[in-house]
This record gives sequence, structure tokens and C-alpha cells, in this order.
Amino acid sequence: MLHVLDHPLAAHVITHLRDRTTKPATFRTLCYQISLLLAVEATRDLPTEEKSIETPLEPMLARVLTHEPLVVVPILRAGLGMVQPFLDIFPDVSVGYVGLERDHTTAIARSYYCKLPKVAGRRVLLVDPMLATGGSAVKAIDVVRTAGATNITLVSIVSSPEGVSEVGKHHPEVRIFTAALDRELNAKKYILPGLGDFGDRLYGT
Ligand code: PRP
Ligand code: URA
Repeated sequence: MLHVLDHPLAAHVITHLRDRTTKPATFRTLCYQISLLLAVEATRDLPTEEKSIETPLEPMLARVLTHEPLVVVPILRAGLGMVQPFLDIFPDVSVGYVGLERDHTTAIARSYYCKLPKVAGRRVLLVDPMLATGGSAVKAIDVVRTAGATNITLVSIVSSPEGVSEVGKHHPEVRIFTAALDRELNAKKYILPGLGDFGDRLYGT
């Protein structure tokens, strides 16, 4: 259930996100751009129906979206950087929040916040830029599933093979959309080649 974004613009944007000399202001713009491409890709299968309209020249049957309102759930804090493009292209989206933080020595994620809208019967898009060990993603999926979500998509910017396999082991039904599948994790559970600590680079901390 892994989809890796294959687009020259995505490759270009990721390169600049990875570059250690990219400053937070530019990093945030690049984060917006890659998240917009991912938002489009991750919603490629939304249902549509025919509607009759009139162009200035003639009547026609055209297609309109018929989906239930989407729910976007960023995993705090870095996931916040990915929300705006979803709001821009799906104005009726609901937003929930799951706060998780990795311990610096163990890399195990600790939960510190959760606020969710109705998720049952809706498509939930969990957004988090980095899928490293997969611990945060698995915990966040557990949380939205407990709240009743059954249609869950995980959207990440950079993923590791270890993280993809961890999510697949615990939640095989979850679709994963990512912009880059990197090589491996280092001893401190950071993604290689990766782009470093996404939250720190996004918020200049
Ligand atoms: C980062 C990232 C993911 C998590 C991925 O967040 O945004 O949530 O690490 O790592 P994992 O797959 O090994 O769990 P972090 O915990 O650093 O918190 P932050 O978003 O507040 O910076
Ligand atoms: N979180 C990050 O921000 N970067 C990594 O490489 C791994 C976890």
C-alpha cells in the first residue's frame, strides 16, 4: 500500500528541503509545495459524479466531487507544516490534532495531546513529514482507529524502509503516500540521507 510520488517537481523540491543550507523561511515554502503535490496524489481516487452545466458555448455533462468531508490530522508538531495545502484545495476539510514527541535517546514516541473531530465514515489523512521508525505513525493510527476511523491514509514527505514496514506490520490496510523512500535509519533513528530534524528546520529551533 506504498505510493511514492513520482514527479520532477517533487524531486526538485525535496532536494532543496534536504539541503542543509536551506533556511526555515524557504523550508516552510518548500514544505507547502511538496505537501500540495502529496495532497493531490493522495486524493486521486476521490469519487465524482456527473452534473449538467452550461459552458459559455454549450451544455455539457461535467464531473464534481461527491466525497464526505475529509479529515486531516497532523501529528504535532512537524505535521502542522503540511496542513495548509489541504485547507486550500479542500475548503470543507475538518482538522484534528495528535501530539506525539520522540524521546531523544530511545526514539519512542510519547503522546501529549489529542483533539479529533468526527472520523467515523470519513477519509482520514494523517500527515507527518517524517516516517522514521514508524513508532509515531503507528501510535497516531491507533488513536484515530480507536476514535472510529476505518479509511486512513498516511501522508509523509520522507520515509524509511523500516517505518514503512512497521506501519504495514501493525496496520496493513493503511495507504502510505510519500515523496521519498530513503535508504535506512542511523543509530539515532534518523533517516539517511534524510533532511535532519524536520520540526527544528521548519520552526528554526
Ligand atoms: C518527528 C516527526 C515524526 C517522528 C518520526 O517528530 O515529525 O512525528 O519524529 O519518527 P518515528 O517514525 O521514529 O516515530 P518529533 O518526535 O521529533 O517531534 P516534533 O514534530 O515535535 O519535532
Ligand atoms: N524525525 C525527524 O524529524 N527526522 C528524522 O530523520 C527522523 C525523525
